[in-house]
Amino acid sequence: MNSSNGSLKVVEQTLNQTQEQLFLLLDPSILTNIQKQFQTFSDPKVLEDIKKQLRPIADPHIFADIKKNLRALGDATTRADVLKQLRPISEAFEAIRVEYLGRKGIFAQMFKELGQLAPDKRAKTGQNLNALKKWVSNALEERHNELKALSEASIIAEEKVDLTLPGVYHSLGHLHLLTQVQQEIESIFLHMGFDVATGPEIESEYYNFEALNIPEDHPAREEWDSFYIDDSHLLRPHTSPVQIRVMEQTDPPVRIICPGRCYRRDTQDATHSPVFHQVELLWVEEGLSLANLKYVIEYFVHEFFGAEYEMRLSGDFFPFTEPSVQVHMRSLGSSDWLELGGAGMVDPAVLAKVGYDPEKVTGFAFGFGIERMAMLRYGIDDIRTFLTNDLRFIEQF
Ligand code: PHE
Repeated sequence: MNSSNGSLKVVEQTLNQTQEQLFLLLDPSILTNIQKQFQTFSDPKVLEDIKKQLRPIADPHIFADIKKNLRALGDATTRADVLKQLRPISEAFEAIRVEYLGRKGIFAQMFKELGQLAPDKRAKTGQNLNALKKWVSNALEERHNELKALSEASIIAEEKVDLTLPGVYHSLGHLHLLTQVQQEIESIFLHMGFDVATGPEIESEYYNFEALNIPEDHPAREEWDSFYIDDSHLLRPHTSPVQIRVMEQTDPPVRIICPGRCYRRDTQDATHSPVFHQVELLWVEEGLSLANLKYVIEYFVHEFFGAEYEMRLSGDFFPFTEPSVQVHMRSLGSSDWLELGGAGMVDPAVLAKVGYDPEKVTGFAFGFGIERMAMLRYGIDDIRTFLTNDLRFIEQF
């Protein structure tokens, strides 16, 4: 038996004893007995004797013991149980109050009978009767207050919060690797002075093709022919339409990056996914050249992948850039070049279409795959893992 159980037993014993003693005071025989002695109330000895009989209501220790033992009880649940056991005791006190001091109680009856006493006896008896009534009523009030304090203490003990207990742990999860990578890319370019722009994923043919210098019959459309929603709208296959939307609304200089989801009619395999993410960059201002483009990409590669990477540009073709390049990178000493995406100087025809003067301003742009960058940096060999939501993958990052 542990110490907490031991204390509980002691508390319960004290409670039971008190309860029994109190119930005795409600016994009709003791009530009539007191009433019968009323005639002799002028005798102080009789009064002392009655007080002795009524001791349970006047004993300040009955609760002191309970209180002491209650404090020794360890946990709040046990205290709450004890608190429940106090109820019969307070009910007993209330019953005593009614039986003794109530309108029809024994004191009321004794006061009534006072008138029948001989006048010489009446004064002393009345005085003592009054004193006894006061004594009983004081005793009951004191116990009542003590009992109340005890219940409150128990309630407080029960409600006390233990700040040292460990909290309930709710797993919050974390950002998906793709989101983390996208935010990191955004942060790198934000530091360089670029803004983040976004555009719709359902795009019109105009923004997706015509404005990007890809006329209707141009064979380059084939590469970006994506999922059509209706005759003239499709899920965007690249983020380049955002360039047009921003340039239409802004005068140069323009410095933006546009990260976002893209869709292509690609059959899914380890390196292709019909849904993927790109980050587009566009900088239009007076005096920009391919050298600036190379610097910006190189800076980004070093920031994102590390100083031990090098990059190279090689010729390519995009209808909206001239010249166009392909961007590759590799770790120093490695023989394999890995493709990051396409880039180039914005075609003057594209600038003219949004109302810029291609004789005055030049610009460059690139579009890189976010999944591809994450795969290169973290050594992920299957693009499908980004979408399958396998926690064994997600929780690694
Ligand atoms: N939009 C092109 C693509 O998705 C990439 C690109 C962007 C190329 C900007 C040049 C300039 O393939």
